[in-house]
Amino acid sequence: MAAQIIDGKAFAATVREKVAGHVARLKEEHNITPGLAVVLVGEDPASQVYVRSKGKQTVEVGMNSVEHKLDVDTSEADLLALVDQLNNDPAIHGILVQLPLPKHLDEDLVINSISPAKDVDGFHISNVGLLSTGQKSMVPCTPLGCLMMLRDHHGSLSGMNAVVVGRSNIVGKPMAQLLLGDSCTVTIAHSRTKDLPDVVRRADIVVAAVGRPEMVPGDWIKEGATVIDVGINRIERDGKNVLVGDVDFASASERAGAITPVPGGVGPMTIACLLANTVTACCRANG
Ligand code: GUN
Repeated sequence: MAAQIIDGKAFAATVREKVAGHVARLKEEHNITPGLAVVLVGEDPASQVYVRSKGKQTVEVGMNSVEHKLDVDTSEADLLALVDQLNNDPAIHGILVQLPLPKHLDEDLVINSISPAKDVDGFHISNVGLLSTGQKSMVPCTPLGCLMMLRDHHGSLSGMNAVVVGRSNIVGKPMAQLLLGDSCTVTIAHSRTKDLPDVVRRADIVVAAVGRPEMVPGDWIKEGATVIDVGINRIERDGKNVLVGDVDFASASERAGAITPVPGGVGPMTIACLLANTVTACCRANG
């Protein structure tokens, strides 16, 4: 049986509609408009595309978008001064510093200089600690989007075997924390995992976040499992430049019960969750 396709594009549209409703109410009832500041250092083409898309969608849901584009050779002191200015700006409720940063800048130092309450990426060490201890935090957008799709598809995730392939701070680790919070039995697998195919075959839920095109073939997928593909990889195929995930969609969709496509799965949910996190940050800032 072919898998059900989990339509992240349509789901993201419903999340944006809800966010727009919250934004309208904040304006009407409290005369507050949430503001998101995005900081981009340098001219990485992929980052430029993401930042443009974030700014456009922020405005579309009725929020204020502020973009700071800095030269590739911006000093750490200047970047930290900008973050400090944004931390102290009451019109800014969310701050996102686009990663990766140029090599001469200390990513951890910069991320941890953002006020945790405005850290809509959920990357600040305080938010990482709060999430891992099950406390109220800002939750990283990509794993949050994955969790929303899983909850929507399954209702309860309690007791399910979940395997997260990939151990990044941005996706793999927070994804595992969120699944644990929903009472899954969680395994984090990675490039050094022994018998990776067999580990993945035990999973009721597979989240693939390794950044390697089509690394997970269909025969690693348990019959009926739910597959969430976080990968966005550009490859050449038949002379064309195409986007593929970390999962081989053609073979995996023959065995999975449900699967997210690439594009149109996790990707659109990430920005929708960023908008939702900005509204959350604004509501918390205003009691
Ligand atoms: N670069 C790639 N993904 C992300 C993200 O979710 N947040 C930030 N700040 N940078 C990124």
